[in-house]
Amino acid sequence: MLGALLLPLLAAGFTEARDSWERANERAGRALSGLSLEQKVGIVTGVGWTKGPCVGNTSPVPSIGYPSLCLQDGPLGIRFAKGVTAFPAGIQAGSTWDINLIRERGKAMGEEARGLGIHVLLAPVAGPLGKIARGGRNWEGFAADPYLSGIAMKETIDGIQSVGVQACAKHWIGNEQELRRETISSDIKDRELHELYMWPFVDAIKADVASVMCSYNKVNGTWACDSDDVNNRLLKNELGYRGYVLSDWNAQHSTVQSANGGLDMTMPGTDFNQPPGSIYWGPNLTAAVRAGEVPEARVNDMVRRILAQWYALDQDRGYPATTINSWNLTAGGPDVQGNHKNIARTVARDGIVLLKNDNNALPLKKPSSLAIIGEDAIVNPAGPNACPDRGCNTGTLAMGWGSGTADFPYLVDPVSAISRRAAADGTTLATSTTNDQAAGASAAAAASTAMVFINADSGEGYITVEGNAGDRINLDPWHSGNELVAAIAAVGKPTIVVIHSVGPIILESILAQQNVVAIVWAGLPGQESGNALVDVLYGDVNPSGKLPYTIAKSESDYPTIVDAPNDPFTEGLYIDYRRFDALNIAPRYEFGFGMSYTTFGFKGLDISSRSARGGNGYGNRNSSGIAAGPATGRRGPGGRQDLFDIVATVTATVTNTGRVQGAEVAQLYISLPSSAPETPPRQLRGFVKLNLRPGQSRKATFELRRRDLSFWDVALQEWVVPRGNFGVQVGASSRDARLTGTITV
Ligand SMILES: *[C@@H]1O[C@H](CO)[C@@H](O)[C@H](O)[C@H]1NC(C)=O
Ligand SMILES: *[C@@H]1O[C@H](CO)[C@@H](O)[C@H](O)[C@H]1NC(C)=O
Ligand SMILES: *[C@@H]1O[C@H](CO)[C@@H](O)[C@H](O)[C@H]1NC(C)=O
Ligand SMILES: *[C@@H]1O[C@H](CO)[C@@H](O)[C@H](O)[C@H]1NC(C)=O
Repeated sequence: MLGALLLPLLAAGFTEARDSWERANERAGRALSGLSLEQKVGIVTGVGWTKGPCVGNTSPVPSIGYPSLCLQDGPLGIRFAKGVTAFPAGIQAGSTWDINLIRERGKAMGEEARGLGIHVLLAPVAGPLGKIARGGRNWEGFAADPYLSGIAMKETIDGIQSVGVQACAKHWIGNEQELRRETISSDIKDRELHELYMWPFVDAIKADVASVMCSYNKVNGTWACDSDDVNNRLLKNELGYRGYVLSDWNAQHSTVQSANGGLDMTMPGTDFNQPPGSIYWGPNLTAAVRAGEVPEARVNDMVRRILAQWYALDQDRGYPATTINSWNLTAGGPDVQGNHKNIARTVARDGIVLLKNDNNALPLKKPSSLAIIGEDAIVNPAGPNACPDRGCNTGTLAMGWGSGTADFPYLVDPVSAISRRAAADGTTLATSTTNDQAAGASAAAAASTAMVFINADSGEGYITVEGNAGDRINLDPWHSGNELVAAIAAVGKPTIVVIHSVGPIILESILAQQNVVAIVWAGLPGQESGNALVDVLYGDVNPSGKLPYTIAKSESDYPTIVDAPNDPFTEGLYIDYRRFDALNIAPRYEFGFGMSYTTFGFKGLDISSRSARGGNGYGNRNSSGIAAGPATGRRGPGGRQDLFDIVATVTATVTNTGRVQGAEVAQLYISLPSSAPETPPRQLRGFVKLNLRPGQSRKATFELRRRDLSFWDVALQEWVVPRGNFGVQVGASSRDARLTGTITV
């Protein structure tokens, strides 16, 4: 309760506020002063599941021109609508490592939301982060690394909010698996909470995200949406968050505790699973205020936060009326796709990762014949949207399942896109679009090259698909994909394997087949799947995606699903590549890996900061150098503002040393000095994607912020730059260092 009362005072102390937010906040304060308690409660309480046109709706207040706020899923496009784009999933955007594309994707999603009068788009996702490879919803987010995830959060939020739509960073926090998600307690220790799970939310808050969605799980025994520690202490006080916290659908579990704990809006307002009328806020919140259990100042703070974001995004001025109709798609609003299929195709294409390419098997050069094998090559014969919320895995996989899905306006499958190209090239196609091994083998026998399509799916736990209750039951391809590849490879033709997957699968059985000459990791591409794939297979565009997670040799190399009331997060800081590096486990394909049809050279590492060794003196953006010790700046959105100061600039020259145009993602990893507490051997702290003509060189510039060189000091409760030598590694993946240097603090 004390925390709640202090909030308005602390918030008033933040002086680095955006002008527009300051004005919006003042307007919110004035609007608030004329509202009754019932009106305020109406702004913070959903009207009930299916009781409005959107998945979340609140009560309007006509006297201040405030509408019934419309909140709608989701992270790859607009759920429950026709005439919208089914974008590539978050994980595909992450695997492009292209900040411009990630922002453009966010902007296009925002434009579609705005076009349907959706005020709050429930995207993007940084939780789950992906510590558990089998976790059902990892594909909704961007990467199993907090730095890449954080940059993608910022760019997506900037894109969505640039067109006046409120974004929602979710799920805060610790929702790493679907099993037991509504009861499990994520017992995350303070350091990993800050260095891994909170990190991308810091970027979201720094980007002024309008809303944050608290998650289903408990944290240290308290439900996230009811937790004063999670919402007041960490989010609003430590991180200086000035937007509002809304509950995941049904994730609120109390009237008074959640209000005083920092929750600002409850969704959907009625409980899915309880009898009608089981509602924590609405009249029950009014009663709690009247009884003195929740200070009215706390309700004012909720409303002020919500209204300030509505004003800050200019939604009070000519915002389109809500025309989406989630419960009757034919009654829904206009077609809002515009030309967004272009950005959908570009993200799908540039997120494709080439994992293996023996003897330049790819790109294809007008082959005389080609076999296309596997049910993943065709659209579900019952239609791409045959299963509600994509809750089946039939035909080609282009998104996972659950609330984070959208209806496909169309789905270009691999076989139709390849057929068009084959017709133009005069290539004879032999197709077998089931996973029947004998049929596939005869198709392979009839062609000079065989291409096999396999996949692995996952989703949200309210739907079980073929025994997978959200989380995957193993890391194998579905529908006997390993056996299909073995049967085709045994025919003896050069065999290319194309994989659509929500996350890592174990590839050892496939790699054991000698005739498998290439592996194309096509991810979760959305509606433009086949077109994007053809762009890369035929070399119209050079593959440039990099893995946003590690592909292991064995499933036991990853942390796994916890089937117990508590997840103690025993892996600590050691998730994904941090774990493989620390435990000396050889991955099959490491984080950041991806091949190209050309080659790249790296040279000329330069480090500039006051104290860098081998550098050129002072940083070009800031002459203050790097001071060891704790951050001391004032708090604002994202926490202490000096954490965002650029303290060192690293540059390197990347050259296209091959014969075709291509893009390389130059990656920078930092190792902390030995004076720091035990830390993963290297952590991503910068990346730049450079498009280069053959022979062309360009400079990659990495700007290191104070936070990029800090660790979370649990005793001090502060970010600290340790003293000593920081290792700097610049290269083509987490394990492909081309240049190394040192920063001395
Ligand atoms: C949860 O408990 C751990 C261990 O005591 C602690 O380090 C961490 O800060 C706690 N998390 C929250 C959100 O309070
Ligand atoms: C809300 O208030 C009603 C009326 O007092 C009460 O019956 C109900 O149990 C309350 N709901 C919750 C979830 O506390
Ligand atoms: C859905 O909307 C259409 C178009 O407005 C209408 O004709 C139809 O009756 C509606 N269906 C239902 C089930 O309400
Ligand atoms: C440079 O560093 C100082 C001290 O940390 C900080 O106040 C200032 O904002 C920084 N400037 C830039 C451009 O990062």
